[in-house]
Amino acid sequence: PFPILTSVQALRDWRTARFADNESVGFVPTMGALHQGHLSLVKASLAANTHTIVSIFVNPAQFSPTEDLSTYPRTLESDLAALSLLDVSALFLPPVDALYPSGITTDVTKQVGAFVEVKGLDAVMEGKSRPGFFRGVATVVLKLFNLVQPTRAYFGQKDIQQALLLRRMLVDLHVPSPLAHNLVILPTFRSRTSTSDGAGPGLALSSRNAYLSARERPYATVLVDALRAGERVWERQRGEGEGVVCVEDVLGAARAHVEGVVARIAALSSSPSSSSSPNGDSPPEPERDQVPHLSPLYFALNDPL
Ligand code: PAJ
Repeated sequence: PFPILTSVQALRDWRTARFADNESVGFVPTMGALHQGHLSLVKASLAANTHTIVSIFVNPAQFSPTEDLSTYPRTLESDLAALSLLDVSALFLPPVDALYPSGITTDVTKQVGAFVEVKGLDAVMEGKSRPGFFRGVATVVLKLFNLVQPTRAYFGQKDIQQALLLRRMLVDLHVPSPLAHNLVILPTFRSRTSTSDGAGPGLALSSRNAYLSARERPYATVLVDALRAGERVWERQRGEGEGVVCVEDVLGAARAHVEGVVARIAALSSSPSSSSSPNGDSPPEPERDQVPHLSPLYFALNDPL
């Protein structure tokens, strides 16, 4: 129902025709494995623009050599089915060499060509544990912006650091308006119900949720539960104290929730029954491996923001 553009030239031709008609173009960049979170961005774009174009591109530059580039979920058939239910105007689905004419490798020391760095913001929080990640994101998104030249572009609050870093890129590199004023950041889409596999309501939809094992899924809502614990303190203090809220108390409540979950997992892994795996014959994971899933969050909460 919509064209699938796989070359830079096809994309440029499609865009030229939109310019000729002076029509607005909304853009939703993704790495595929589309879920309702992605689709909520598409729907917002459809409501505000004459045309909406989605891109699906698993960007090698934002993966480190030890990350999951080769196994990142690729579900093109169901992605196309999901998009065909919506009124999108085009899908940009370029091969890797179309976006990286000088070639690309995940080994930073061997990379050649042009890259974009947004200094400062790329070194804190998620950037601390994923060196090179935000450089890869900024680079591919600027390439996509230069090709698509959208009127508006849509990003999710789930990846708030990414969205804010891209906003700074638009400002610092003087990317032409209207886009520079139209980077739209939308709320995180969360699962409304418990899923049959043990994750509670409130889990943020994410393509990588597919990696969670049956044993891990019940713990996956630790983040949203911690946010809610903080939110409850925020609301209570706002009600009691004429609008004055102690941020330390809010963060403390969130941190206490995470610490409680970490302690429960630690207790599980030290109890003898933990060696029986819920998946039957798959070998039990080493005990220590159960805690580090949560520890990056734990340390981030203890860092000054
Ligand atoms: P990807 O993880 O596929 O996400 C594409 C967009 O969907 C991002 O803006 C992300 O924040 C948003 N998104 C993901 N899950 C969401 C949810 N549950 N609710 C709302 N929005 C959600 O982020 C990337 O791809 C890449 O880094 C990309 C920007 C495409 C550059 O390669």
